[in-house]
Amino acid sequence: MADFRKSTVYQIYPKSFYDTDGDGLGDLKGVTAKLDYIKELGVDYIWLTPFFVSPQKDNGYDVEDYYNIDPRYGTMEDFDELAKEAEKRGIRLMLDMVFNHTSTRHEWFQKALAGDEKYKNYYIFKKGKKPGVPPTNWDSKFGGNAWEYVEKFDEYYLHLFDVTQADLNWDNEEVRKEVQNIVKFWMKKGVKGFRFDVVNLISKGIFEDDFEGDGRRFYTDGPNIHKYLKELNETTFGTDAEIITVGEMSSTSIENCYQYAGAESNELSMVFSFHHLKVDFMGNEKWVLVPFDFQKLKNIIFEWQTKMSQHNAWNAVFWCNHDQPRVVSRFGNTEKYWKESAKMLATVVHCLRGTPYIYQGEEIGMTNAGFTDISQYKDVESLNHFRILQEKGLTEDNAYSILKVHSRDNSRTPMQWNNGENAGFTSGTPWIEVIKNYKYINAESQIDDENSVFAYYKKLVKLRKDEDAISYGDFQSMAENHKEIFAYKRQYNGETIIVVNNFYGKEILWDTEIDLSGYKCILSNYNDSKVDRVLKLRPYESIVLKK
Ligand code: GLC
Repeated sequence: MADFRKSTVYQIYPKSFYDTDGDGLGDLKGVTAKLDYIKELGVDYIWLTPFFVSPQKDNGYDVEDYYNIDPRYGTMEDFDELAKEAEKRGIRLMLDMVFNHTSTRHEWFQKALAGDEKYKNYYIFKKGKKPGVPPTNWDSKFGGNAWEYVEKFDEYYLHLFDVTQADLNWDNEEVRKEVQNIVKFWMKKGVKGFRFDVVNLISKGIFEDDFEGDGRRFYTDGPNIHKYLKELNETTFGTDAEIITVGEMSSTSIENCYQYAGAESNELSMVFSFHHLKVDFMGNEKWVLVPFDFQKLKNIIFEWQTKMSQHNAWNAVFWCNHDQPRVVSRFGNTEKYWKESAKMLATVVHCLRGTPYIYQGEEIGMTNAGFTDISQYKDVESLNHFRILQEKGLTEDNAYSILKVHSRDNSRTPMQWNNGENAGFTSGTPWIEVIKNYKYINAESQIDDENSVFAYYKKLVKLRKDEDAISYGDFQSMAENHKEIFAYKRQYNGETIIVVNNFYGKEILWDTEIDLSGYKCILSNYNDSKVDRVLKLRPYESIVLKK
């Protein structure tokens, strides 16, 4: 089995990756066409975001049929071909399983709406508190109340996300069996990885009004969550030791993650948590503009690294995905130090304890979209909140400034392959605009350049394979309260690796208080980094030292 502690996962958002038929949408054939590029990067797994039949209200996270491929992405033959070609190159596929909810276009929901009691019980229908008042005051994560009224039944159904994404009732054993069958179907196709979407929300707890928050405390990490994950493990992927799994854990607690991703708990291989990506929020509120809090970022990452390690549990480590803005725009510098900061941020994540995830385009330093008009945005969450922000009294300009920083479309723009038309993504009209900087930020110009961001990611992927201290070592934070430095130590079998990063664009002197004479520099984003007890770090400089 590929050892997931030495592995790196590459995430593909097929819609924006590569279009082979000129309709402006990426497709599965496009993934196959680019396998050699992915192989060159050295990664072990490809995580594909959902390509199942879907009305695409939430770009495929609203599944209508889990057993078939959306024609926009291709056919089952295209999938089989992709699986075969990936395997030839030693790359495994990880599929994205969305089981907290289905599209309201799913056959189950349609039958429920038609009044079939069996299928009504697949979802969460409830009476309102009184006429016109939904069962609880919970917010949908995409804005508005989380309940939708169905007149015919005089009842509401729960949708924690879009109104077209109805939450499944996991307390119904039949639902759990359906889910198991879907996982087994894809296992039979040779899939060796699964990512489970917002999976810690599947076990609903108490249906009560929340007067302190948006309702999430009542359904996050719910009462039967560990039981349901153990059951899914036991009945499906747990029967194949080669399969790796990752759970997307929305607003979770670290105590629950010890179990979700504990080596002994028979739930999942690892977890995505998001606390470190809320350091530019106000509490849980994303739609605000506040500078990121560096100290908080360090505290959170250090805490998760240390405690997950103490509890023998495994993290997925990452900055980027299809829901997050681009990290170089978020915590780095897109102007003078674009390349240095992109490499520094990569170093921070890739030397941590956990399995690193690279989101398409991150490996070439892609930036935020820079959209200035609402017509350029496509994401349902962004469009809803653009309206809601203005309803709350913000000016249109203010709403735009917030979208520009936080919109999920920042990372959904087409992959920048070359400096030709549409960045080489499509010969048609791209479904979402290509970022103008593709003229100088593109894959083609970086593949053979040994100083490129791409070449640096390649080195990091290899470093994890070569250095046991990075893949297996324990974690110790350093310079905890330093205002500019992000540093830590990894140790394994008598070897020590020290990772030092200057997170800012100015020169810093840092007394490590360690005799570094026995250490050598094994990686740096400047070619001539010097190793001294007092380190002189240039803007965004990263140094990885080994003894
Ligand atoms: C996850 C996905 C996101 C989606 C949501 C609802 O957070 O990553 O893209 O909108 O779940 O399925």
